[in-house]
Order: sequence, then structure tokens, then C-alpha cells
Amino acid sequence: MRVLSGIQPTGRPHWGNYFGAIQQYIDLQHEDESYYFVANLHAMTTIRDKEVMWAHTYDAALDLLALGLDPNKATLFIQSDVPEVSELCWLLLSVTPMGLLERCVSYKEKVSKGLSSNAGLFTYPVLQAADILAYDADIVPVGEDQVQHIEVCRDIAGSFNHLFGEVFVLPKARVLDSSAKVPGTDGQKMSKSYGNTIELFEDLKPQRKKIMRIQTDSRPMEEPKDPEGDHLFELYSLFASEPEIAEMATTYRQGGFGYGAVKKAIADVSESYFAEARARREALVAEPETVHEILADGARRARKKAGEVLLRAQQASGLKR
Ligand code: TYM
Repeated sequence: MRVLSGIQPTGRPHWGNYFGAIQQYIDLQHEDESYYFVANLHAMTTIRDKEVMWAHTYDAALDLLALGLDPNKATLFIQSDVPEVSELCWLLLSVTPMGLLERCVSYKEKVSKGLSSNAGLFTYPVLQAADILAYDADIVPVGEDQVQHIEVCRDIAGSFNHLFGEVFVLPKARVLDSSAKVPGTDGQKMSKSYGNTIELFEDLKPQRKKIMRIQTDSRPMEEPKDPEGDHLFELYSLFASEPEIAEMATTYRQGGFGYGAVKKAIADVSESYFAEARARREALVAEPETVHEILADGARRARKKAGEVLLRAQQASGLKR
């Protein structure tokens, strides 16, 4: 089984990225082949500052390594280091109906939030399809918001295969029920574009302050509360053990507690949960050479595979003999 996924460097990776996707990357890195990349070409549709682009790209790679991605098992690379994918993207664009892209919610959402619409933003799902198809990926571990893009990828691959023969493997999304949609500090889906994220490795003091400011309702302390659907309870459950979660659920149902106590519990449990990764990250920051070597080696391995698949598509469509 071949696994692939990517993360955009539009900001520092956050809890939603980790529990929705990165945790799955780590679990699945033992599969036959796995590919994980920092999607800087996707970020090109929105980032306009070269320093920000580079810093976030490098940081995301560092975060993935610190969180336990093992470069001896998984191939880790930066998207733009594999030009074969951009070339494959053109072949796919040429068989993609406009209507398919017009139905994509992420484009509509971004434009409605005031992002200027450019052709890259509109055709973004086709580049994502190229990312996936270039490596013959069977499984794509993602959060719920990316499921539509994987469906679009299957549609595009299906169209190409229908026209030119069985060139592409049709991938499947892998979404965890427990963390498909991690809530942010305002209770909505945690997302860089909503400004409601808690970053994995921000300094502990400001992070704790941010956790203590998570929005809640104004029900009185003594009132019993249903833990189901409560975003503080959801966040706590991501980090806590089964008995701790059961105890917190009982506290909710009994009432007589303040939300401040739950926030403090989240801050404590999240701090210890990521303590090891934080220490690994500090060590990696001091070794930029090692990180650059890992990324160069990853790009070399990724290019080999993507080159084979691109050639297959070129031959099938008559671009090459
Ligand atoms: P991105 O960078 O927005 O997010 C990276 C991963 O994190 C997941 N995620 C969440 N999961 C649960 N709850 C949340 N609040 C939450 N926020 C983010 C996302 O679902 C994603 O899995 N288009 C992609 C990047 C990409 C890609 C690909 C992914 C480019 N090419 C090919 C898979 C395969 C994106 O913007 O993810």
C-alpha cells in the first residue's frame, strides 16, 4: 500500500493539522511506501512574501520530523522540488471539466472570505490531484475538509483513464472519526484562514494564554452540561487518556465546575503530550544541515517515482513514444 499526504505552509502547523492528519502520517509511515510533503506550490496561491514562504515551508518540515516522521521510513520533501508534478498537472487540467472545479467548496469559501481569486486558487484541486496521482498513492490520510479534493482527484483520474487507458491508481481518503474536524479557539473548525489556531510549537506561555481565552458559552457554573459537542471537551479528549476523559464527562454532567478548570486541564495535558516532540524540535533547529540533507534525499526519491508516472501518462496520451 502506498500512502501520501501534504500540508500547506500557510502558517505554522496547528492542533487541527496534527490530530486530523499528521498523527496518521506517523502511524502509516511503516507502510510499503509513504510520501509526505510541504505543499509550497499550493501556498503560492495566497502567500506574497518570500521570507514568510520560506520560513513556513522549512518550519513545517521541521515540525513533521520533530513529531516523529522518520526519513528512513517515509519520504519527506518540498512540493516544488518535484517539477514532474507541475508538468503532470497540465495533463490533468486538460481533461478537467470547469464544472467540477466550480463545485469545490474550498474555492468558494476562500473567495467569500475576501481572498483575491486567481487561477491558481481555482485550479488548486487539480494540482492536488497531480500530487496524489504522481506517486500512485492508494491512501491519502487527511482531515474532513480535504475529502472533497480526494473525490475530485478520483474523478479526474477516472476521466484520464477513460480517455487514455489505465494510467492512474484511484486513491481513497483516510479520515479519523475522532479528529476529522478539530475545533479552534472560537469553536469553529480550527483553520489558519479563520485565525483561530493553536500552533503545535508556539511558546508555552502565550499558548497557555490563548487556551485560557478559548470562547465558551455563559451558562452558570453550577448547571450540569452535556459533554457531547462541547468544543472544550472535544479538545481535552484529543490529549487525555480514556479514564481521564470519562472523569471529565462525569464532571460535565454533574455541573458545579468552571470552564477555566477545563482550559487549565487542556493546557496541562497538551503541554506534556508534546513535550518530547518539543525537545526533538529544539535539537533539530540546531542541525539545519541534517534537515536540508533529509529534504534533498526525499526530493530525489520522490522525483524518481513521479518521473515514472509522468512518463506513463505522456506515453498514454501521445506526448511521448
Ligand atoms: P492543510 O494545509 O489545510 O491541512 C493539512 C492537513 O490538516 C488537516 N486539517 C484538519 N484536520 C482536522 N481538523 C482541523 N481543524 C483541520 N485543519 C486542517 C487537513 O484536512 C489536511 O489533511 N490542500 C491540502 C494540502 C495538500 C494535500 C495534497 C493533501 C496539497 N496536496 C495532496 C493531501 C494530498 C491543504 O490545504 O491542507
